[in-house]
Amino acid sequence: MDLGAASTRIYAKRKGIVLDEPSAVMCDGRTGKVIGYGAEAAALGGGGRTCWPVRGGLPADTELARRMIRHFLRKVHWHPYSRPRVVMALPGDSTPIDRAALRDIAYEAEARIARLVPHAVAAALGAGLELSDCTGHMVIDIGRDSARIAVLSGESVVASGSVPYGGLAVNRAIARFVEREHGLLLDDDEAESAKRRSSGTNPEVTVRARDPETGREHDLVLPVQKIFEATEPSFESIARTAVETVERCPAELAADLGVRGAVVVGGGALLRGLGRCLRGALCMPVRRADRPLEAVALGLGRCVDELGLIGRFRSRR
Ligand SMILES: Nc1ncnc2c1ncn2[C@@H]1O[C@H](COP(=O)(O)OP(=O)(O)OP(=O)(O)O)[C@@H](O)[C@H]1O
Ligand SMILES: [Mg+2]
Repeated sequence: MDLGAASTRIYAKRKGIVLDEPSAVMCDGRTGKVIGYGAEAAALGGGGRTCWPVRGGLPADTELARRMIRHFLRKVHWHPYSRPRVVMALPGDSTPIDRAALRDIAYEAEARIARLVPHAVAAALGAGLELSDCTGHMVIDIGRDSARIAVLSGESVVASGSVPYGGLAVNRAIARFVEREHGLLLDDDEAESAKRRSSGTNPEVTVRARDPETGREHDLVLPVQKIFEATEPSFESIARTAVETVERCPAELAADLGVRGAVVVGGGALLRGLGRCLRGALCMPVRRADRPLEAVALGLGRCVDELGLIGRFRSRR
């Protein structure tokens, strides 16, 4: 199970990805009672308050996260006598308390066994890297709230860094640009939609923005180039952190990276212009994983499908 701030993805042994839903819980606005999970909770007009109980790969609201995980596990593995064995990704910067909290929440959500694999290892395996020798690999995971960078040698993380710029920061940069240039307000859903459409081939995208004074909505045509310029500072921060991470590596590993390059996973990997920005700053090849959104779940899946990988990679701390 890849417990992400935006989406939770579950890979079932020998079956593949069996669940991919927003990490959302809908609560009744008046009573606070949970009335929906996942896609249902994230859909607009559900008549309640939508909560996002996961942050940085860890439960931020323990009670809601536990109920959401239990709901997802029951959805993909319902059996009256058997409970699932669960493998989860452990964020690189987590403390022993975070680790215990992640394991506890899995047990409370009815897992029979909970194993943790370092997030960067899962991302690298899911991007198709072989971590069998000591050559250096760089993995950049750009999720909703943050970008996490790790350099791996074999199965250990040699250097890592993170920066609070992910998909959400990009949406905010687009909304700020629209307010500054056009004096109109763009809500997060419109900014998200503009961002996704600007990754395609269209030279411009149309958004619906609101006049703060009259409250009226206007259609606004935004050139994709302008969206790119607005989001570039976020890319530059990610690239700077990636460069600093390489600088902390031993020289021979940095030389390996220059040849092998970096792989980008997470939803942010789909952002237009990001690859070019990373390549320019890092001076190394940068490629996007084949299935960037699912890479962490696929990597965790490899740990359960390929005999021996879970024993090799699981976090014992
Ligand atoms: N086609 C796309 N173009 C640009 N951005 C996208 C696209 N699809 C998804 N995203 C962005 O990717 C982000 C979600 O990525 P991902 O699913 O990897 O996050 P997560 O794993 O749930 O979060 P985290 O890893 O931070 O816990 C969202 O901010 C979303 O806007
Ligand atoms: Mg993620």
